[in-house]
Amino acid sequence: MRKQLIAGNWKMNGSLAANQALLSAVAAGASGASCQVAVCVPAPYLAQVQGLLAGTPIALGAQDVSQHEAGAFTGEVSSGMLREFGVRYCLVGHSERRQYHGETDALVAAKAQRALAAGITPVVCVGETLAEREAGRTEEVVKRQLAAVIHANGHCISEIVVAYEPVWAIGTGKTASPEQAQQVHAVLRSQLHAATTHSDRVLILYGGSMNAANAAQLLSQPDIDGGLVGGASLKAPDFLSIVAAAR
Ligand code: PGA
Repeated sequence: MRKQLIAGNWKMNGSLAANQALLSAVAAGASGASCQVAVCVPAPYLAQVQGLLAGTPIALGAQDVSQHEAGAFTGEVSSGMLREFGVRYCLVGHSERRQYHGETDALVAAKAQRALAAGITPVVCVGETLAEREAGRTEEVVKRQLAAVIHANGHCISEIVVAYEPVWAIGTGKTASPEQAQQVHAVLRSQLHAATTHSDRVLILYGGSMNAANAAQLLSQPDIDGGLVGGASLKAPDFLSIVAAAR
């Protein structure tokens, strides 16, 4: 039985004061949670949040990592640097990075590889746009995105987390129905199954307007192993209701 993971993705939000208030409420409310909990925070707050999470069961996550190990890459953050701050998870290939920063499948795969080599679990985000869904290309798109990561990471693939985030559902208030999400998760699961004998332990999260009202139904699907939560992770009561709905 996979223990579910609820990961908050703060995106480019937060401040020293707001982070402290949010995490003291989240830590208090999540102390008896039966699922795993993580927060993926902007890089400048890693040190602060590492301190705030000390002694809590909540894991620290980052939102991106460089594909390079070190060197003349102005503005980039390396996996080794993330590791020094106790980072356990790192998002790679979030649709906002694919869309606004031109990240390709190959780049996302290289980032996942770099994270794994540093002992950080990459949370590999895949998902189709509305146009791709309407053209009946959902399966083809998510399989192509995941295939690049499988190809680059070989037997380490059982160490990743996958997040299915339909682009049309992110920040829009439109959620995939539990059936729509489960259908794609099952496709991803069978793709992982073909790549590793340990596919059963790979967590596949759903993301895209997950909230207190829809979390329980989504999280009850057999291949949905948790949530990647954007907007609702910035409000402690909302985030905690999602955590409470997970197992
Ligand atoms: P959302 O974002 O929950 O605000 O839709 C999810 C994400 O982008 O990870």
